[in-house]
This record gives sequence, C-alpha cells and structure tokens, in this order.
Amino acid sequence: MKFSIIPSFSVFIFPTITYAVSLIEALNANGASQFAQQIQANPDILALYNSPAVKTVYAIPDSSIGNSTLRLRAVADPQRLSLHASGQLTNLETLSVFPGSVSKSNLNSPQLQQPQAVVSQSGVSTNTSSSSRRRSVGGTIPSTPVSIASGLGNKVNLVSGDIAYDGGLIHVVDGFFTVPVSLSDTISSTGLSTLQGLLNQSNLSSTFNQANSFTLFTPSNAAFAAAVNTTNTTSPAALQNLLQNHAIPNFVGYLPDLVDGATYTTLSGNTLTVTVKNKAYFINGVRIVSPNTITQNGVAHVINGILTPTPPVFTGAGWMLRPGYGVVAAVVTALLVQLV
Ligand SMILES: *[C@@H]1O[C@H](CO)[C@@H](O)[C@H](O)[C@H]1NC(C)=O
Ligand SMILES: *[C@@H]1O[C@H](CO)[C@@H](O)[C@H](O)[C@H]1NC(C)=O
Ligand SMILES: *[C@@H]1O[C@H](CO)[C@@H](O)[C@H](O)[C@H]1NC(C)=O
Ligand SMILES: *[C@@H]1O[C@H](CO)[C@@H](O)[C@H](O)[C@H]1NC(C)=O
Ligand SMILES: *[C@@H]1O[C@H](CO)[C@@H](O)[C@H](O)[C@H]1NC(C)=O
Ligand SMILES: *[C@@H]1O[C@H](CO)[C@@H](O)[C@H](O)[C@H]1NC(C)=O
Repeated sequence: MKFSIIPSFSVFIFPTITYAVSLIEALNANGASQFAQQIQANPDILALYNSPAVKTVYAIPDSSIGNSTLRLRAVADPQRLSLHASGQLTNLETLSVFPGSVSKSNLNSPQLQQPQAVVSQSGVSTNTSSSSRRRSVGGTIPSTPVSIASGLGNKVNLVSGDIAYDGGLIHVVDGFFTVPVSLSDTISSTGLSTLQGLLNQSNLSSTFNQANSFTLFTPSNAAFAAAVNTTNTTSPAALQNLLQNHAIPNFVGYLPDLVDGATYTTLSGNTLTVTVKNKAYFINGVRIVSPNTITQNGVAHVINGILTPTPPVFTGAGWMLRPGYGVVAAVVTALLVQLV
C-alpha cells in the first residue's frame, strides 16, 4: 500500500516504461483525480470500471469539472458514469477517422436491445459556423477536431488520449456525456418546436418513443418554414405519412453506419438513400446539419429540409431509387408531399 503512488510517478518521469498502472492511479496521474473520486464513491461503479467490461474510459480532467456541484451530481448519477465507460477498446486513431466511430458504453438500454453508445465525430462538414472547434491539448489529437456526441445532441471535445492503464485506454474529454432521454423529450429540449407540434398533432409521439430501435431525421424549424408552401400537413393521413417518412424502424443509424449509397425503408414503406459528398451527409438530397443526437431508443439527425422519400419500385427499375429521381417519383405518387 505504501507504494501505491510509485507507478504514477514512474509513468510521469519515464513515460516509455510499461508498468501495470491501475485506472485510479492513471486518472490521478493525468489530472483527473475528481473523476477518479466519483468512480470510487460508488462501489458498483468502481467494480464496473475495474472489471473487464470496461476497456476505454472517457475521463474529465479536474480543470473541466471545476466545481464540486458537478462532482456531486455525477456521483448521484451512475448512469452517466456508465456512459463514460466503454466495453470496446477504442484508440484515438479510431475515434478520429472520418466520420468518427461508435463507442458502445456500459449503460444498458432495454429499448435499444444493445448498450447505449456515444459517437465520435471527425471531419464531418455540417456547414455551420457553430460546429465544434478544435481544442487540442498536448498535440495528441490528429489534424481534425474530434467531438463526441451523446444525449440531447450534446457534444464534448476530445482533448487528449491513448493513456494506457492495466485495463485499457483513457481518453480525456472536456465535459460529461449526457444520458439520453426519450425521443420526444429530446425533440422538445433541443428546440425543434415545429417538429414537436406536428408530432403532437399526429399522435405519433408515443409510437416513436416506444419503438425499439429507431432512427429519425429531424427537420429544423427553418426547414419546415421554408417548405411551408410545398408540404401539406392538412389531413391527418398526410401528416402521419410525412413524419413516418422521416423514420427508419429497427435500425440505429449512427452517422458512421450511414454509408454512401445505402438505402433504407421508412416506417411508411418508402425508400431513403444516403449520399456522402465532400464530407457532408445527405438523405435523399437533404443535408444532415447536426448528426448523432442520441436518444433512449436510437439516434436522431437534424436535417435542413423536408424529406421527399422515394416510393418502393419493382426490380428492373433500380434507377428510380437514385436520389436524383426522388422528386420525380414523389410527384408521380403525390402521396406525401404535394409540390405546388
Ligand atoms: C464552486 O462552488 C463554490 C461553492 O458553491 C464557490 O464558492 C466557488 O466559487 C465555485 N468555484 C468555481 C471555480 O466556480
Ligand atoms: C454552406 O452553405 C451555403 C449556403 O447554404 C453554401 O452556399 C456553401 O457552399 C456551403 N459551404 C460548404 C463548405 O458546403
Ligand atoms: C406537445 O405536447 C406536449 C405534451 O402533451 C406539450 O407539453 C407540448 O407543449 C406540446 N408541444 C407543442 C409544440 O405543441
Ligand atoms: C408561401 O406562399 C406565400 C403566398 O404565396 C408567400 O407569401 C410566402 O413567401 C411563401 N413562403 C415561402 C417560404 O416560400
Ligand atoms: C392538402 O390536402 C388536403 C386534403 O388532402 C386538401 O384538401 C388541401 O387542398 C391540400 N392543401 C394544399 C395547400 O395543397
Ligand atoms: C389525433 O388524435 C386526436 C384526438 O384523438 C384526433 O382528433 C386527431 O385527428 C388525431 N390526429 C391524427 C393525425 O390522427
């Protein structure tokens, strides 16, 4: 016991020596002693972090925790600490590769039927001036900034990482992850009021919330405003179709899982196609402006337009599935969106 601080010093003085360093020692040696205290304050959480179920730890340095209020809140929230403990060994390179990677946590999500995840994001062009900025400390982060998305669309920055301990790797992030909440609470808490109002009107909120694995493309308020003359939400059926065409059931499409050219069937049976161009993501030609808002039952991506899905077509007419023909096909069926 009297030697307990020796490995920390050794790592500091002789960084190339490989020692068996415990997680707590490594956190203390790397300026994350408050985070280490949070883990130790809850026996179940400490047991989790010391178990083989945890291979990557997203630690918050004391400088980012700052105040004791946050610390106490985190102690009272084992869910959040479970979200900071990944079961996968994920290094900086994996997290930094375009467009990022999915990191499965130890927060169980019965609705997802798989562990809840956080998603790193790198080099994705969202074309907004407020996109996450690079905050590199110590030069360990590769050339593009990396943020990590969790609940309510909150993103924290990766500031350093690949700190080895005897159970895996520690990465340092500049804030806590947010525990995901229900899809409808996520929509209302992130200011998507037009979508929220339409969801209320359509009575689809609980259907969407209760779905087991669910991807929703969530148009911004500006997107709805711009489409006011071309989107018909007058009849209940048209409204429901419109919303169902933004949803992919039985699929959790975190950004890295949406590959260029992939097609997905919406809740109302139509087809959406992913296009990736110049590091920007499009769904049937509509741009994803804020990806990876993690919800209790899946993921939501904010888009800057209303989706015009492509109706299903039969074999031999594969050309119709291409996004460029989506509008043509929609006019033909005129089911969901009436173009003026
Ligand atoms: C932290 O909280 C204490 C008491 O609530 C306060 O006095 C102190 O100024 C705070 N420190 C910082 C860095 O915000
Ligand atoms: C960003 O959006 C504006 C307006 O929508 C567009 O003119 C511009 O080309 C976009 N920039 C990039 C880098 O995509
Ligand atoms: C939607 O319904 C919820 C609960 O019924 C309500 O609190 C909220 O204000 C409604 N939102 C809109 C935009 O209509
Ligand atoms: C919608 O149509 C009205 C009436 O023609 C027009 O005044 C308004 O600018 C249009 N709105 C948009 C976003 O195109
Ligand atoms: C919207 O659809 C309803 C019923 O389908 C129709 O009565 C109404 O005229 C349409 N409105 C517009 C603006 O196309
Ligand atoms: C939603 O429910 C209300 C009340 O039951 C009903 O009046 C309305 O038509 C429903 N809306 C849709 C889109 O089904």
